[in-house]
Amino acid sequence: MGPAILLTGANGLVGFKVLLNALEQGYTVRAAIRSMSKSDVPDITDQKAYHEATKGSYLCHSSGLASSLPSAGPPQTGIYEPNKLVIASSFFANIPFPPNGGKITAESRLPDIPGPFDSMVPAYSAGKIAALNAAERFVKENSPTFDDVNVFPGFVFGTDDRALQVEDIMVSTNRILLGVITGQVAPGAGYVYDAVKLFLHALDVIAPKNIGATVPHQFNEAWDIVKERFPKAAKNGTFTQGKQETIPIGWDAHQTELDFGFKVKIWSDMVVDVAGLYLELPGKF
Ligand SMILES: NC(=O)c1ccc[n+]([C@@H]2O[C@H](COP(=O)([O-])OP(=O)(O)OC[C@H]3O[C@@H](n4cnc5c(N)ncnc54)[C@H](OP(=O)(O)O)[C@@H]3O)[C@@H](O)[C@H]2O)c1
Repeated sequence: MGPAILLTGANGLVGFKVLLNALEQGYTVRAAIRSMSKSDVPDITDQKAYHEATKGSYLCHSSGLASSLPSAGPPQTGIYEPNKLVIASSFFANIPFPPNGGKITAESRLPDIPGPFDSMVPAYSAGKIAALNAAERFVKENSPTFDDVNVFPGFVFGTDDRALQVEDIMVSTNRILLGVITGQVAPGAGYVYDAVKLFLHALDVIAPKNIGATVPHQFNEAWDIVKERFPKAAKNGTFTQGKQETIPIGWDAHQTELDFGFKVKIWSDMVVDVAGLYLELPGKF
């Protein structure tokens, strides 16, 4: 049996891909999901939510994943207790809102921003900032036996194995990319990444504590990419030009490519993945 992971959010866009990749790589995965009614499975905010699931050779992770590597330490800390906590943070966790153009890396930090908030993005951003700060404060004050690693994805786009029809893609961030190539006009901003790989790399014993997963892109270039790669669908109206503003953000995750020796996916890869998925699935608008 491979090293064990407790994966939370396992039925989400990111979590489900992490689940599939972890199984492929030989990990044993215990996946924590909420039921349809979301009433008979613990809420992540409940302090005792994962007490049972982390017993034995499982590591706890919050909104992402965790792993226990049996060879990594003595039985109590290496096996019984989690030895690595990998947290799905976000590039929103250390970008001032609105962005001021300054350089940001995985080590950048911001103070908590108290509400109230009048729209979703600043509230999400403040929530991610608070979660990051709280996790780091907890580790500093309690010196737990596990290491904590934060992964900072930009907007996450790509194939989605959960999707059976187009409607299923629209519940994830892929809907933002799809908007640009299906004639929708929306405000917003973004950057791209390849987060899933990094969640599993984060389990490496020598992984850095903070891992950026973001590359620059321009949303509206998606239309040119689709015209070039899917000319028939662009011509017959399956795809139509939309509009999505991109706010420039100085997030620099180049260090991740150096640390792990791979190139993160670029915008055209994402566009081709999501447009290809859209073409394959029934239920188009
Ligand atoms: N998608 C992106 O562009 C992006 C970018 C940067 C960072 N992230 C971060 O990556 C993580 C996953 O994102 P995602 O896109 O995969 O989101 P998602 O598709 O919405 O999935 C979220 C998952 O978290 C679970 N969940 C939410 N609240 C919970 C709670 N209180 N208790 C237990 N489970 C809960 C959901 O369960 P239910 O299905 O039961 O609701 C679902 O499985 C999040 O922390 C997000 O902030 C995402």
